[in-house]
Amino acid sequence: MFTRVARRAFTTTRVNPYKVTVLGAGGGIGQPLSLLLKLNHKVTDLRLYDLKGAPGVAADLSHIPTNSKVSGFAPDNNGLSQALSNTDVVLIPAGVPRKPGMTRDDLFSINASIVRDLASAAGEAAPNAKILVISNPVNSTVPIVAESLKKKGVYSPNRLFGVTTLDSIRASRFISEVQGTNPTQEHVNVVGGHSGITILPLISQTKYSNMDKATKDALIHRIQFGGDEVVKAKDGAGSATLSMAQAGAVFANAVLSGLAGERDVVANSFVDSPLYKSEGIDFFSSPITLGPEGVTKIHPIGEISSEEAELLAKAKETLKKNIEKGVQFVNN
Ligand code: 2OP
Repeated sequence: MFTRVARRAFTTTRVNPYKVTVLGAGGGIGQPLSLLLKLNHKVTDLRLYDLKGAPGVAADLSHIPTNSKVSGFAPDNNGLSQALSNTDVVLIPAGVPRKPGMTRDDLFSINASIVRDLASAAGEAAPNAKILVISNPVNSTVPIVAESLKKKGVYSPNRLFGVTTLDSIRASRFISEVQGTNPTQEHVNVVGGHSGITILPLISQTKYSNMDKATKDALIHRIQFGGDEVVKAKDGAGSATLSMAQAGAVFANAVLSGLAGERDVVANSFVDSPLYKSEGIDFFSSPITLGPEGVTKIHPIGEISSEEAELLAKAKETLKKNIEKGVQFVNN
């Protein structure tokens, strides 16, 4: 699979040894995400945890000749805390996916307690880890993790991230389809949250700002509700797993690059943010700079059009409710 040069890179390049833990590694996102992490040479110790299936996934991945050791853990023998012990980065894709007709918010009742319990375990076994939340509804599960870590006395805003990269990935893809361009060369600043109208792609900041209104409205709608296309096509078998895994792996790589001290690592993520705190919105996705301690800088969203300002106002209304729901779940 690897060219000789690539193989040599895995064996002779000295990299910082990073421990990465996937909670929910046996699931639809967890398996391909674990594969992509196994291929990332920054990861040297990959720990996979799930209620069932993680040891099998780990055994399977362990045959791939990259420079990481892979271990699988189940709930018995203290598996969760072993998987988390002293790890650097925790990715949480655990939980149930959507079925047709469901919004991400409909998952709240099941995923909220799963995420709360995993966050508490992470707070105990890996209090300094960067935590990357994929489990939906991200707009609420990120505040759930924050509140759970506060209860353990180990919350640090710069170490908690909601993964919104799939919205950025979709925006690059969908805008390139409209424009007939190369998606790898397209970047859209997608801000807000990770659900429906809280997802705000800032088309006015791209070079296609004068796209006609009907095309632009359709594009924005497709980026906001792109996940529904997958839910519908999977017809009861779940939501996006493969593109979500790719998004999680891309964002995890950015976090690891920051940990390794690389410069100017910027990515969008849903974080504890000062941008709209005065309006009661404690978490918001915007571009952030990543460094050894996690978030080192939160960038404002930049100039927006009057139409985008209206969309932002609506996004903030929903976000505020989603965030409060997460906070209340842990505290009541
Ligand atoms: C999505 O955007 C699964 O939330 C994920 O499709």
